[in-house]
Amino acid sequence: MSTSPSVPAPPRHIAIIMDGNGRWAASKGLPRIAGHERGAESVRTVTRECAALGVQFLTVYAFSTENWKRPKTEVDALMGLLEHFLHQELPTLMANNIRLRAIGRIHELPPGCRQTLADAIAKTAANTATTLVLALNYSARAEIVDAARSLCTEAAAARLDPATIDDSLFASHLYTRDLPDPDLLIRTSGEMRLSNFLLWQLSYTEIIVTQKPWPDFGPDDLHAAITEFHTRERRFGAL
Ligand code: FPP
Repeated sequence: MSTSPSVPAPPRHIAIIMDGNGRWAASKGLPRIAGHERGAESVRTVTRECAALGVQFLTVYAFSTENWKRPKTEVDALMGLLEHFLHQELPTLMANNIRLRAIGRIHELPPGCRQTLADAIAKTAANTATTLVLALNYSARAEIVDAARSLCTEAAAARLDPATIDDSLFASHLYTRDLPDPDLLIRTSGEMRLSNFLLWQLSYTEIIVTQKPWPDFGPDDLHAAITEFHTRERRFGAL
């Protein structure tokens, strides 16, 4: 681990839009999947560093609902990479007391992937240090639609009075119902957009966009982002 004593106390929850795998590969004349493979290495390194720093929650955008529109070869490779990552990383997750979670429409993932994921989630369920949350087949609009549907079902069955729906009740129907909102969002590779990621939860999150593509993002970049986060004044809408 490259934990530096000069890194200030970490944010409780860091979310990451891991962008730029394809551009990283193209810049080296490699196929896109080589960028994703190198990106999976960055997930490993950054997760371990978050655990070493004491970050309680790390949420990474690994596959969006829109990513199904990519060529089948790339989608299949991403699903294979995810399974491989889960198998390979499980001992490290256990050794570092890291709990695995997933958010998204997980039931629509391929069966093999679902099974490996369920197994890793079950085996790490009692771990108490960092929680690594994989956003898989995730879209914030789908999450909000799913929450609205669930509330409507409750109301239609007369188990819920619509007048009682407030921020907190709504949030309790999101996939992230038991997670705190992210304090810091990091997006790699320079694009200035949210790409349908955690739209509800990022309302008061500090955003840092780095130019580096995700495969090149490492512990030093994480430390730099945390240091910049500490220069921000968070007022949550107050004066
Ligand atoms: C965005 O880069 C990245 C993705 C769509 C997938 C992210 C996946 C990984 C980092 C690897 C697998 C994940 C795990 C958890 C093992 P892009 O392909 O859109 O890059 P580009 O914008 O440069 O084309």
